[in-house]
Amino acid sequence: MAFKILVTSQKGGVGKSTLSANLVAYLSRSLNLPVTLIDWDPHGSSSNWLKQAPPVGAVIQHLALPVDQGGNRPIFEARLQMRRAASECDILVCDLTWSDSLAGELMFEFDMVLVPTSVSEIELAATSGFLSRHRWVFDSAAARRPMLVVCPTRVLNEQLNSDVFTKQRFPVSFMLAPPILEAQSARDLFERGYLMDARDIGGESFREFGEAICAAREIRMAQSQQPRTSPVKLTAKDTSSHRVPLTPSKASVLESIPNSSQYSVLGRYRQRKVAGEAEETSSARSLAQMGIPEFLKRLARGNSAKL
Ligand SMILES: Nc1ncnc2c1ncn2[C@@H]1O[C@H](COP(=O)(O)OP(=O)(O)O)[C@@H](O)[C@H]1O
Ligand SMILES: [Mg+2]
Repeated sequence: MAFKILVTSQKGGVGKSTLSANLVAYLSRSLNLPVTLIDWDPHGSSSNWLKQAPPVGAVIQHLALPVDQGGNRPIFEARLQMRRAASECDILVCDLTWSDSLAGELMFEFDMVLVPTSVSEIELAATSGFLSRHRWVFDSAAARRPMLVVCPTRVLNEQLNSDVFTKQRFPVSFMLAPPILEAQSARDLFERGYLMDARDIGGESFREFGEAICAAREIRMAQSQQPRTSPVKLTAKDTSSHRVPLTPSKASVLESIPNSSQYSVLGRYRQRKVAGEAEETSSARSLAQMGIPEFLKRLARGNSAKL
């Protein structure tokens, strides 16, 4: 069954289409799996991006969803379109501007919901409101509830120090992705190429983001393999008591799961960068050279340490 990822937020301009197009390219190339994009945005930015830029082997669909009709119609249509697309791919990415007329049930169709947000106060307030309204989805006891990943986007260098992702502000279970930094390349590459190939800070941050999403996918897939009746937080300890045996690669990712409460990866990201730069000069190792499990282990260590 295809792994389904929804990229959504209520606000425009936060970077959903940029993230969606580049994530499809990243997953398609790095995992070498069949990936499909469903672009539900009438503007078609993410589908146009992938259609015009050098092909990555992904299937691209620009489809209409009657978001403003209310009732069950949008969910019905979405399910139908997703079912068709999912039968022919391993990963399905859907780009959607959320509307309040959509029923939150739609999110249960997905394994993972990515919510891009910039870290400006006005956008954080909107994101917090959006997540609070859908808390019942992400904190639901249903085994098939989607994994929520908050994705800081268009982040300025000087914002990396700010501690904005607090439990108080986001009273919902979520994972925090490494930030995608504001970079000219993200604008210049539209319909021409992909952030994962950019040599600047935009490219570096996107590659780190892509790796984290791949790791989160592994975690989600391992979670959904084990039979359960209530939400379970997997930790390194849990891996030994799984009824479903985990492959070594999955176990190593699970071992690295961050603790439940995220505070500020932005602050930690800055610290990791500083630490990475220091390390680079001493041992010639950069963050980009680290394997994902090590990256997440650092994240996990950062979570338990008081910053
Ligand atoms: N990481 C980034 N750095 C710089 N500009 C960005 C970045 N991500 C998106 N943008 C720009 O922000 C604007 C909105 O991005 P877009 O992906 O269309 O957002 P949305 O789909 O949420 O409306 C576009 O002009 C895009 O080029
Ligand atoms: Mg868009």
